[in-house]
Amino acid sequence: MKKRFLTIAMALFMVLGLAACSSDTPASSDDPASTGTTSANAEKPLVWFNRQPSNSSTGELDMAALSFNDDTYYVGFDANQGAELQGQMIREYIEANIDDLDRNGDGVIGYVLAIGDIGHNDSIARTRGVRSALGTGVEANGEINSDPVGINTDGSSTIVQDGTLEINGTTYTVRELASQEMKNSSGATWDAATAGNTIGTWTASFGDQIDIVASNNDGMGMAIFNAWSKDNGVPTFGYDANSDAVAAIAEGYGGTISQHADVQAYLTLRVLRNALDGVDIDTGIGTADDAGNVLTSDVYKYDEASRSYYALNVAVTAENYKDFLDSTVTYAPVSNQLDAEAHPTKNVWLNIYNSSDNFLSSTYQPLLQKYDDLLNLNVEYIGGDGQTESNITNRLGNPDQYDAFAINMVKTDNAASYTSILSQ
Ligand code: BGC
Repeated sequence: MKKRFLTIAMALFMVLGLAACSSDTPASSDDPASTGTTSANAEKPLVWFNRQPSNSSTGELDMAALSFNDDTYYVGFDANQGAELQGQMIREYIEANIDDLDRNGDGVIGYVLAIGDIGHNDSIARTRGVRSALGTGVEANGEINSDPVGINTDGSSTIVQDGTLEINGTTYTVRELASQEMKNSSGATWDAATAGNTIGTWTASFGDQIDIVASNNDGMGMAIFNAWSKDNGVPTFGYDANSDAVAAIAEGYGGTISQHADVQAYLTLRVLRNALDGVDIDTGIGTADDAGNVLTSDVYKYDEASRSYYALNVAVTAENYKDFLDSTVTYAPVSNQLDAEAHPTKNVWLNIYNSSDNFLSSTYQPLLQKYDDLLNLNVEYIGGDGQTESNITNRLGNPDQYDAFAINMVKTDNAASYTSILSQ
């Protein structure tokens, strides 16, 4: 009798259990939503990289995303230091080459500027860096206005002003003739093809008034160089030190900035490795790890308040470009293989916001793929279309399968699209 009662009770229990499982709201007793605790995925290491969670209008950092859990970090590079370097590199080039630069001899050094993404902190900083170094910036609310001017043929724009440069006793006017966000019709930013087309429009209006081309990155810079500047001998400056751009310096590309992607890609995976190993976050970064990997303070800095690692930038010009010809070589001081027993393989979900982004696909991802082996991480790479966040988040359908996450958002405002999935 007792046995029979138990059997009935068990059957009843199973039926109820099944009913609970099939209901809309997950209700198992260890389910985070039902207990009020956070989900297991919300506790896993998370790194944002290349696109810092921030408000795309004001630039204000999204601290909720940056401190999502104790093992959340951002990895990027020092945007202001790099932007200043880019501006300085262009100004120094003008000063050194002034005799051949002013193509129509009107005393005005005209430049055009390709802008990547008006809501991306890196892009904004670079636009400001160029304007600040060339004296064309106009301050708005204590900062240089980074809006595109559109067309500014006669220098009457209120977004920029005509700058002046004193070179060898002569005063030259510097004018931003045109600038535009390079966004394609589907909404992808930093769009190289758009830049390649736009230079055609610009040269049709300005002809030999254009003496310099500045671009927020090499992808757009090289599209312009190949479409026009190379044949017309007009120095074109970019950013990223992608291998093709560095090689083009031998053919007249003006210069570029290395954002030390070799250090950034390492840091991106290293912070995850450390969190997964449960060791101090500085391991293999400021403090040598058991394989001898360590970085020195001349290549990165860490800002505790924003939980952000920033690689430092280096200018790449005709003087030193031969040292930068292959942008996919790992950084030697952090290229030692970790021991597989002490650091067992872990699974990482990682996305690239746009699989066609020149920098991320030709420089950053190849580096990540080398470091993932060295750090014993099994990384699944997801490539987005550069336009829709859901195209990527849809592929984060089963976060339980991964031990850690590395995220490169389409839009810097959209961190919650990811953290909400991890919190479920
Ligand atoms: C790079 C760009 C790239 C962008 C993507 C920037 O840091 O310089 O080339 O398109 O990141 O977010």
